[in-house]
Amino acid sequence: MAPSAFLRTLSGFLPARKPTATTPKGANGTDIKSGGNGVHASSHAPPPSAVKAPAFTLGDFTIDEDRPIKVVAIGAGYSGITAAIRFPQRIKNVELTVYEKNAGVGGTWYSNKYPGLSCDIPSHCYQFTFEANTEWSSFYAPAPEIRAYLERIVDKYKLSKYIKLQHELIHARYDESSGKWHLKLRRPVAESTSDQPQYEEIEDTADFVLCGAGGLSRWSWPDIEGLKSFKGKLLHSADWETDDWKEGVKDWGDKRVGVIGVGSSALQMVPALQPRVGKLFNFVRGKTWLATPFFSEKLADLMKRDPKAANYSFGDDDKKKFRDDPEFYKAFRHELEAELNSVHAYTLQNSDRQVEDQRVFKEAMAKRLEKKPWIADHIVPDFPVACRRLTPGPGYLEALCEENVDFVPKEIRRVTPTGLETTDGQHYELDVLICATGYDTDYKFPFPVIGRSGKTLQERYTPHPSTYLSLCTDGFPNWFNCLGPNSGVGSGSLLILIEREIEYAVNVVGKMQRERLKSIEVKREAVDDFDEYLEAYFPGTVYSAKCRSWYKMGKEEGRVVGLWPGSCLHAVRAFERPRWEDFDYEHLNGDAKNRFYWLGEGCTYEEKHMVGDRAWYLSDKEVDFPPGTLFY
Ligand SMILES: Cc1cc2nc3c(=O)[nH]c(=O)nc-3n(C[C@H](O)[C@H](O)[C@H](O)COP(=O)(O)OP(=O)(O)OC[C@H]3O[C@@H](n4cnc5c(N)ncnc54)[C@H](O)[C@@H]3O)c2cc1C
Ligand SMILES: NC(=O)c1ccc[n+]([C@@H]2O[C@H](COP(=O)([O-])OP(=O)(O)OC[C@H]3O[C@@H](n4cnc5c(N)ncnc54)[C@H](OP(=O)(O)O)[C@@H]3O)[C@@H](O)[C@H]2O)c1
Repeated sequence: MAPSAFLRTLSGFLPARKPTATTPKGANGTDIKSGGNGVHASSHAPPPSAVKAPAFTLGDFTIDEDRPIKVVAIGAGYSGITAAIRFPQRIKNVELTVYEKNAGVGGTWYSNKYPGLSCDIPSHCYQFTFEANTEWSSFYAPAPEIRAYLERIVDKYKLSKYIKLQHELIHARYDESSGKWHLKLRRPVAESTSDQPQYEEIEDTADFVLCGAGGLSRWSWPDIEGLKSFKGKLLHSADWETDDWKEGVKDWGDKRVGVIGVGSSALQMVPALQPRVGKLFNFVRGKTWLATPFFSEKLADLMKRDPKAANYSFGDDDKKKFRDDPEFYKAFRHELEAELNSVHAYTLQNSDRQVEDQRVFKEAMAKRLEKKPWIADHIVPDFPVACRRLTPGPGYLEALCEENVDFVPKEIRRVTPTGLETTDGQHYELDVLICATGYDTDYKFPFPVIGRSGKTLQERYTPHPSTYLSLCTDGFPNWFNCLGPNSGVGSGSLLILIEREIEYAVNVVGKMQRERLKSIEVKREAVDDFDEYLEAYFPGTVYSAKCRSWYKMGKEEGRVVGLWPGSCLHAVRAFERPRWEDFDYEHLNGDAKNRFYWLGEGCTYEEKHMVGDRAWYLSDKEVDFPPGTLFY
């Protein structure tokens, strides 16, 4: 039988679904709203005498008719870029806009341009699961490569159409009656100059906001007396003046340069600047661990190279091998990632791994400081490894040992027009002063986020942020974070977390769309329970030890706000399946309180319009063949 004849015969067994010509009446004679195909609440009703008015009216839509939904993402770093890929891929009928205040994409990797910036986990782990790059030039790739990688992804997946650059969110208010966020943004007017930018405000609304504004995107000047009186060049690591730092420092050969700090930024900047400046002073008030080069043995084993290399370069031969042998590349990547996910034990107080790492790192640091051994007394901490961000800092200790570098382990009293004075009264004459002094990490973004009952997120985050699994907070419906409070990791890759957090948000939006929800809001008790979990988890970890860190909002002690309470793999598992029972919901159709409103008029789109595939569940990609199935 020809397929069409076969289908016609089959369709004879299916109920006819022609629209009815007349509008049916309810018991009291009022019209009952018909579904689009004429299927309505009373179609199988008892005789008129017994008819009761239906409790609610069926929705005029099929179960799979995706309602339009508007998503706004804030920020075009790794988080916003992932959102721009996944929302349109997974949510039909979505209108997505990504607002980014910078003039380019990349977030951290767009705005940070300081000397020596590179990633501090292996490049092959600092990339998307789905976008393998075979061309990383080194084990810790320089920032411009990471930025270029992100720009390529934006091009490849044609994401520019969603991203509005130079659009800064300045105000967000949740409207309880519509369930929408009302957003105000500012953008430079076309004719304004960079010296004197002028802005105009625009407004937008969103059914759902994904905030990917970055926990480490707000840099701050240190609170040091007289800082602004300095007459030389004053720079912050996160606000470098030139795109190409080598070009920017090319005339610094005779300059006296001061770098304040011993965090990750300073650790990269000092070795990069040392050979290019006349004299370098590193002003350090705290201490820090430096790890032995991560995975050096694993890498040497995989690539058959020198295990002692601090920042291993990938030459043309290596890259060719990665390109030509995808299986080798996959295995290489897999092994590195597994290694990265094997160090969680060092984050636990007094674990064997922690004790061993302290011993090994102390020894290695002393060895690297052989030429100036006194520095070890001032830099090797008495707090545990990884209490603050642990980095290998390739070349840092070696740079401190160079002739033209002075390590100054002193508190700063004040900055003067010509230099800097330490608390012992010594004055250091400087031409350039660089503050590698970090970021505001309280997650209180400078734009007001006004939730239910006029309460701001800034108030809710006082004295510290409280969230549900780092993702959202009660009182702020339809607002989810990517890399919000308590979502960093002290070991492992942030990128898998970004991917999984976006997946979670996509799930939420899918639920809102399918179930025609006006709002989804986490219950207060679920946030409180997560709070209790944090309070119970962190005391057993090295993060609660006494050390100043952005993990604790720049304090030595107190609440850990920067990190997930567990390992990276633990977070991946936690995000796997949303616990929908932890949320409250409001339906879009206010008077249709019935939880099954979303079932609509009782059929699917394909049936209603007689289009598409009406046996899609038989296609190979849909059938879930159990193991052992013999394919036919
Ligand atoms: C110098 C530095 C080096 C780092 N190195 C590593 C590393 O090696 N490995 C690692 O795992 N992690 C590293 N991190 C952490 C890094 O931030 C994350 O890995 C990741 O890049 C975060 O991506 P994101 O998109 O969430 O945030 P971001 O990259 O911070 O992007 C946020 C974006 O939001 C935009 N934005 C903020 N406010 C607004 C607003 N009001 N309106 C519109 N747009 C707004 C910002 O301009 C920015 O572009 C580093 C961080 C810094 C600061
Ligand atoms: N890829 C990478 O390697 C990389 C590079 C940069 C940043 N990052 C990420 O960004 C985070 C922040 O790094 P960061 O180095 O920019 O900031 P940070 O870790 O917060 O370090 C800031 C440094 O400035 C010092 N400081 C601040 N105020 C000071 C003052 N008034 N006087 C003297 N010293 C002062 C701090 O002193 P104390 O030592 O006393 O605290 C600290 O050493 C990192 O932890 C990491 O997560 C990663």
